[in-house]
Amino acid sequence: MRDLIVIGGGPGGYVAALRAAQLGMQVTLVEKDNLGGTCLNRGCVPTKAYYQSAQLLRSLGQMTEFGISVAGSNFDLQTTWARKERIVRQLVEGISGLLVANRVEVITGEASLSSPQQVRVGDQLIDAKRILIATGSSCSQLPIPGADLPCVVNSDQLLAQTTLPDRLVIIGGGVIGLEFASIFQAFGSQVTVLEYMPDLLSGVDKEISKRLRVFLKRQGIEIFTGARVERIEGNGNQVTVWASTAKDTISAEADTVLIATGRRPYTANLNLGAVGVATTPQGFIVTNGDFQTTVPSIYAIGDVIGGAMLAHVASEEGRVAVERMVGHDSKVAYHAIPAVIFTTPEVATVGLSEEGAKEQGIDYRVGKLQFAANSKAITMGETEGLVKVLTTTEGTVIGAHIIGPHAADLIAAATLAVKERLTAEQITTTIHAHPTLSEAWLEALLDTEKRAINLMPKRGAQ
Ligand code: NAI
Repeated sequence: MRDLIVIGGGPGGYVAALRAAQLGMQVTLVEKDNLGGTCLNRGCVPTKAYYQSAQLLRSLGQMTEFGISVAGSNFDLQTTWARKERIVRQLVEGISGLLVANRVEVITGEASLSSPQQVRVGDQLIDAKRILIATGSSCSQLPIPGADLPCVVNSDQLLAQTTLPDRLVIIGGGVIGLEFASIFQAFGSQVTVLEYMPDLLSGVDKEISKRLRVFLKRQGIEIFTGARVERIEGNGNQVTVWASTAKDTISAEADTVLIATGRRPYTANLNLGAVGVATTPQGFIVTNGDFQTTVPSIYAIGDVIGGAMLAHVASEEGRVAVERMVGHDSKVAYHAIPAVIFTTPEVATVGLSEEGAKEQGIDYRVGKLQFAANSKAITMGETEGLVKVLTTTEGTVIGAHIIGPHAADLIAAATLAVKERLTAEQITTTIHAHPTLSEAWLEALLDTEKRAINLMPKRGAQ
């Protein structure tokens, strides 16, 4: 009997399979589609390929300032789409190669549970001491009239399209909605975002999400918050999206409507109930601290168990789950999960927001550094945004929130600080190279003690 069957080859499942193989387990991975899951095929990676085109297009507008003249530039979605497809293929092949090299058996097909130690794939029955479910999530539907019209799409479908929408209405101002808004606005679509909550990116530090809203509006994206979308009317490729706000009814014309109102756990055809694997009322698989479900030989990780539905969380849960199976005392550092949002400018956050710290009754200090005061950002011509840091009154870093150039990369240092509960002093006595964006992080930390060097002095400096 093999040691482990992993169901799902996304960033949760394939990382778990590879780590299990490294630990000496005999592993089979079952995947019904391409390896790499949503992240690689329909999520993080293809959107970042588009994001790069969007960034380049935006920089064209700045070229003359840099002394470069570009005549006759043109954007072609078909070429961008083909580049995205090549990147995805290359990375899928990479995962396949890694699985082969680590002697993980890969079965293509849809798995369902037959018993606590048995999985059916087509007419094949395979068994293992343990089974790990990593089936992820899928786009949720919006139960409103008109949601089934042909020009109403989810993020998977919009990424598959090779024609550019003229007027794109996005329902949902969360992570997916805003990444697509930013990308398609740069591509040339006229974009409107309708968000139900009072702020964009609920859960993100409010100062950061408010700043982002200003930047996105300045780029020409139309944004309505507190807007509950009620129906989509029309036919063919000309529709009207109707929403109600506290004051009135608003409407937006579109030829494409993107629904980006969240994702739900994907457990279709797994046969969970029949083998006794419990789920929450929302459909997430219930697990304990070892990632065991209510059937002890069956484990689950990633989006399908809920929490932060992020690729890197799924991968980490995959690693920790299989290490715990062989007796390691591995843990997921849930208090330090970085989240990165590829809008222009980028947003990245880790740890507690200011609102979160208040809610938990924590006395905190705030330090900030605007990128306009960072020499590298000035040379790059990307001075929008800031680094904001929260520490306890004793100086322990508890949160960091960045909006600005390369925020997604800069958050790594802050994540380490939050995870290891480093103090501002430990970081500010570490030399940061000049001139770099990382100095903004350093100076924001210094600002928690009112001693940033490149900021005008504040009262109470020590
Ligand atoms: P989300 O939960 O982040 O945002 C959905 C938004 O839609 C919410 O703000 C919600 O208030 C709004 N909404 C819901 N119903 C609505 C209605 N009827 N009218 C108007 N607004 C409505 O979900 P999203 O953006 O779909 O992302 C799903 C998951 O994928 C998230 O967990 C996200 O973290 C993850 N993801 C992460 C990325 C990253 O890390 N860069 C990229 C893309 C997705």
